[in-house]
Amino acid sequence: MASLVLDQVTKTYPARGKPAVLAVDRLNLTVNDGEIVGLLGSSGCGKTSTLRMIAGFEGVTSGSIRIGERPVHMLLPKDRGVAMAFEGYALYPPLTIRDNIGFALLRERRPRAEIAARVGEIARLLEIEDILDRYPPTISAGQQQRTSLARALIRRAPVSLLDEPMSQLEPQLRAILRARIKDYLIEHKLTTVFVTHDQTEAIALADRIAVMEQGVLQQFATPQALKEEPANLFVASFIGEPPMNILDVRPADGGLAVLGLDGRPAFHVALAAPMTARLAAHARQGGLKLGIRPHRVRVGDPRGLAATVVSNQWLGDQTHLALDLAGCFLVVVAHGHVRSAIGEQVPVGLPLAAMHVFDAESGNALVHGLDTREAAAA
Ligand SMILES: Nc1ncnc2c1ncn2[C@@H]1O[C@H](COP(=O)(O)OP(=O)(O)O)[C@@H](O)[C@H]1O
Ligand SMILES: [Mg+2]
Repeated sequence: MASLVLDQVTKTYPARGKPAVLAVDRLNLTVNDGEIVGLLGSSGCGKTSTLRMIAGFEGVTSGSIRIGERPVHMLLPKDRGVAMAFEGYALYPPLTIRDNIGFALLRERRPRAEIAARVGEIARLLEIEDILDRYPPTISAGQQQRTSLARALIRRAPVSLLDEPMSQLEPQLRAILRARIKDYLIEHKLTTVFVTHDQTEAIALADRIAVMEQGVLQQFATPQALKEEPANLFVASFIGEPPMNILDVRPADGGLAVLGLDGRPAFHVALAAPMTARLAAHARQGGLKLGIRPHRVRVGDPRGLAATVVSNQWLGDQTHLALDLAGCFLVVVAHGHVRSAIGEQVPVGLPLAAMHVFDAESGNALVHGLDTREAAAA
């Protein structure tokens, strides 16, 4: 129960005979007291390095870390007030699961009854009550992972760090435990940073998500803001499944020309004069990209543009269609079962409010949501 501040935290690993690896690059992050933050990014983007620096198992190359008001980056791990569940579990093989989970409380010389009650509570929460008398080598990877998670959560430390805490669990159990863990973190007001490469998990658990790529923080925002106002092309395509459609565009009279894969104008997006002028001014310095999420395209809209079905996947509760829209490739998601065959035409509505515009060079977002008028056919 404390705030956590990372200030320009950088980590480089020396590499023999090769340039050093820059794993974390000037990371700024403020986690509020009691807040649950997810570090999300693909493998190798620096998530574990970040957690290990907060916990003190890795030194910072530069920058500082504070917990509460106290600088901690020079302290030993045990003096930081941090509990961590490791990616590799790190259980004590000679101890039972019960003693592994209760280890920190035993060492703090808590009353036996309290330890037993808290071990019981956390084991029930994580569905590992039945293995408390067994030893780590005799249980499954998923059970080892939950033991490691229990060992961190039971401490109710000022800061809890969880590295890929549910990666070994089956989807159903993961969904159940996600909700229970969230309740537990909220009930005990635990300031938490967890690492995941699974965006569903990040969205379900986190108050705010820090999206990282190649050691660099891309955006730190609520799940909703990441979806509706992605800061750049990376976040726009990384968050959301299927990913946002990204199309090449260039300014044209009265709006934007959307370019097909061959680089020729495919259709026109009519915009109000001020927006047209603004985007045209921007385009003089560099190219533009247009983004629209597959869920926001209105399949079957009678006033829409005609597109040709390239592929059609029915996923049981929704349909994923790949469409050719006058030379543009577009992935769209329709609720329910769309039975259109390959080669058939379907009309699609492209709501301007769902369109994002990005700077092609820097990738930075320029506009979220254009005018409310519909895109008009060229
Ligand atoms: N101990 C280490 N020595 C050298 N390079 C490392 C070490 N740990 C991590 N790295 C490198 O740092 C980068 C970030 O790794 P890591 O923080 O483990 O990423 P993630 O947890 O997001 O997968 C990767 O390129 C990885 O190979
Ligand atoms: Mg990792």
